[in-house]
Amino acid sequence: MIHVFQPALGKEELKAVKEVFESNWVGKGKITDQFEENFASHLGVRRELVRSLSCCTEGLFLSMELLGIGPGDEVILPSISFVGAANAIASAGIQPTFCDVDKRTLNTTAGFIEEKITPKTKAVIILHYGGVPCLMDEICELVRDKRIALIEDSACSVASRYKGRACGTFGDLGVWSFDAMKILVTGDGAMLYCRTPEVAQRAEKLLYLGLTTRSGLSNSVDTKWWEFEISCYGRRAIMNDIASAIGVEQLRKLPDFINRRRKIHEYYNQALSKLDWLQLPPQIPAYMESSYYFYWIQTQPEIRDQLAKYLREKGIYTTFRYYPLHWVKFYGVTTPLPNAEEAARSTLCLPIHQSLSDEEVNRIIESIYDFGKDFLNP
Ligand SMILES: Cc1ncc(COP(=O)(O)O)c(C=O)c1O
Repeated sequence: MIHVFQPALGKEELKAVKEVFESNWVGKGKITDQFEENFASHLGVRRELVRSLSCCTEGLFLSMELLGIGPGDEVILPSISFVGAANAIASAGIQPTFCDVDKRTLNTTAGFIEEKITPKTKAVIILHYGGVPCLMDEICELVRDKRIALIEDSACSVASRYKGRACGTFGDLGVWSFDAMKILVTGDGAMLYCRTPEVAQRAEKLLYLGLTTRSGLSNSVDTKWWEFEISCYGRRAIMNDIASAIGVEQLRKLPDFINRRRKIHEYYNQALSKLDWLQLPPQIPAYMESSYYFYWIQTQPEIRDQLAKYLREKGIYTTFRYYPLHWVKFYGVTTPLPNAEEAARSTLCLPIHQSLSDEEVNRIIESIYDFGKDFLNP
C-alpha cells in the first residue's frame, strides 16, 4: 500500500538514539534543551520563547489555560480543523464557535473569522491548511483591532513562512506536532511558541507539575535536594531525550524533506493539469513558503468518492483532512458552513511524503488517468 503520509527515519536517528541510551539518561535533559534551541533558531525567534511538550493536542489544551479562557468566553476556529483543537475549547467549558473556510485553499480568512466575532470572543485558533499559510496580514490586523488572542495550530506548517516569517510565530501562541504522521517525526512530541518569555515560563511550569524548584542532581542550592515547591497544579507533559534526539536529526534533514515534497507537488501539478475533471490545489503565492504537507485535488463529490475507492483497490491510500467539526454531533453546533461543506465533499488528499519514490508517484498519476478512462469516458 502506498501511504498518504509516512515518516522518513534513518540510520542517523538510530545512532542519535543509541547515544542517548549510552548516556544512561533517557528523560528530559540536555538533548531536549538542544532540540528546543535548534527549533527556535529554525523559527528565527529567541530561544526563551520556545518550549517542547508531549504533543500538539496538549499545547492546544494548554493554550486555553495560558489565556485564562473559561465559561462565558467564546473561541473561534475553522470547521476544517483538527478535532483536538475543538476538544481543547470544549474542555474549557465552552461550545466551540466554528467559522467557514475558503473552499479552494481550505484556510480560514479574516472575513470568515470576523463574521463570528461577538463581545465574548476571547481567541481564535487558526490552521495553515496543508502547510500553506493563511493570509496573515489581514488576520493579524483583525485580532489586533478586536483585541482577541491568536493561537496558530502549526501542525501542518513546520517549515511554512509568510512574507519570510515562520508560521506559528504571528500570534500569542503557536504549536507544532511531531507525531508519527507529520513531516518532522519524533514518535510523539511538539513545540510551543509563546509571544513573551513570561508566558513561556508559565507554560513550562504547567507542563512539569507546577514545580518551581529543580530537584535532584541539577539542584545546587543549600536546601535539601528532595524539598520542592509548586506554583500551580501542573500536569506532566514533556518531551524526553530519546524523542528529542530524533528531533535534532529530523530538523537537520527538514530542508531536504521539504525539497522532495515540493518536487512531488510540482510533478503532480504538471501531470494532472491535463485532466479537466479535477481541480489542482491553488497556486502558492511567491510571498508564501509551504511545507507541502498535503497535496489535494477537488472534483465532484460522487467522482471524489469513487476515485478514493478505486485508488484504495489499487493499493493507493488517500484521505480527506479535516472532516468538518460542525458535522460532529457531540459539539452540538448545527449552523451550516457552505464552503467547508463543499470542500469536505469534493476534496481528496493524495499521498505526499518525502519517502515517496518517483515510481510510486507515477503509479498514482497513472491510476488517476486510468480511473478517468474507466469511469468517466467508458
Ligand atoms: C492540524 C493538527 N493539529 C494538531 C494535531 C495534534 O497533534 P498531536 O498528535 O501532536 O497531538 C494534529 C495531528 O494530526 C493536526 O493534524
